[in-house]
Amino acid sequence: MSVAAPAAALRASARDEAAVMDHALALGRRGLGLTWPNPAVGAVVWRPTPQGPLILGHGHTRPTGRPHAETEALKAAGEAARGAVMTVTLEPCSHHGRTPPCAEAIIAAGIARVVTAIEDPDPRVAGRGHAMLRAAGIEVEVGIRARLAFLAHLGHIRRVTEGRPGVFLKLARTADGFAAAEPGRQLMITGPIGSARVHMERAAADAIMVGIGTVLADDPRLTCRLPGLADASPIRVVLDGDLRMPLDSGLVRTARDVPVWVVAAEDAELSREAALRAHAVDVIRVPRKGERIDLGCALGALGERGITRVMSEGGPTLGDALAADGLVDEATLITHETPLGRPGVPAVGPNLAAALADRALFEALPAAVHGPDRFEHFVRTA
Ligand SMILES: NC(=O)c1ccc[n+]([C@@H]2O[C@H](COP(=O)([O-])OP(=O)(O)OC[C@H]3O[C@@H](n4cnc5c(N)ncnc54)[C@H](OP(=O)(O)O)[C@@H]3O)[C@@H](O)[C@H]2O)c1
Repeated sequence: MSVAAPAAALRASARDEAAVMDHALALGRRGLGLTWPNPAVGAVVWRPTPQGPLILGHGHTRPTGRPHAETEALKAAGEAARGAVMTVTLEPCSHHGRTPPCAEAIIAAGIARVVTAIEDPDPRVAGRGHAMLRAAGIEVEVGIRARLAFLAHLGHIRRVTEGRPGVFLKLARTADGFAAAEPGRQLMITGPIGSARVHMERAAADAIMVGIGTVLADDPRLTCRLPGLADASPIRVVLDGDLRMPLDSGLVRTARDVPVWVVAAEDAELSREAALRAHAVDVIRVPRKGERIDLGCALGALGERGITRVMSEGGPTLGDALAADGLVDEATLITHETPLGRPGVPAVGPNLAAALADRALFEALPAAVHGPDRFEHFVRTA
């Protein structure tokens, strides 16, 4: 059913249109780390009024990806959706999956104008959602806050276009640039506020990834240990070519509570795999590229399992290898105010340093200071 509504009456000022999209983006962020393999979308049903946008209903994609944001927002708005505007962070889906397409639900609800930030590059959608809406007589506008929406949906976009998750790299260093005092030893660098922020960012990831070097040195748990976010711990992934993962490590001991996936080389010992599997650790095999496992294949295997956002919390070796293969999408460097004061293990290797310094490759966002820690954030430009 098509709805004819006077277009001018459904338009707000550019500032208000952007503010509604910002609200939708904020709603979508609530689902980050929870909605995989689906994108974390936000949607708002509203009407312009002389006093500003009147919000009639809003929603975001629920855990595991269903219901979608659009159906949540329509449900909240009820009959008020008829003749109203829907602002949504990503093009509504047009294909029949576990539920009917959102574009159909929007048409059936009588929405008169749809505003989206970006087209969904998922080959099952790729412009068809917008086309379905237009064919039903709905006015469609695409492109408001497009860069922010691209970044918000980066994990989904990488997965549907390149078959791998988005990679968010985090590395902490002392004021003089070291990640550890000596190879294989742990050095606590980040202060309590900075650590809380890292834990919060873990909750927005589908998986946390480290190399086996970090497991052997730190025996980390890699869970999200903030009040209220204990259930938001992502899948824990260890890149471990030769299956050196100790059976008494904190990760293996807690694998029945929060999943642990170990990515190993195809030729790693079968008996080691069996021992890990007996402790509920999943083992994924990928080919080697030279001495080490192929990072592109490792990330591809995570993408195949539905992972859209990976936070890399590994050491300098993994960070530099990811940069060398062009696999870093965003990077956070945390610099503590205190120096180590003697030679140690440099946090940022040559490939990562070169990539982050290249302004054609990475944009540097304004730094944030949390107590003694300075957070520098770099975002890949394309
Ligand atoms: N400051 C920080 O932010 C931070 C964070 C984490 C750790 N650390 C510290 O860093 C030190 C550990 O450093 P690390 O560099 O050894 O840790 P890492 O980068 O987490 O682990 C390195 C290991 O990952 C494995 N790996 C598998 N595939 C790889 C690939 N394609 N490319 C690179 N590595 C791959 C390699 O072992 P195989 O060849 O056997 O597979 C490699 O030795 C410890 O002292 C730890 O405390 C610091």
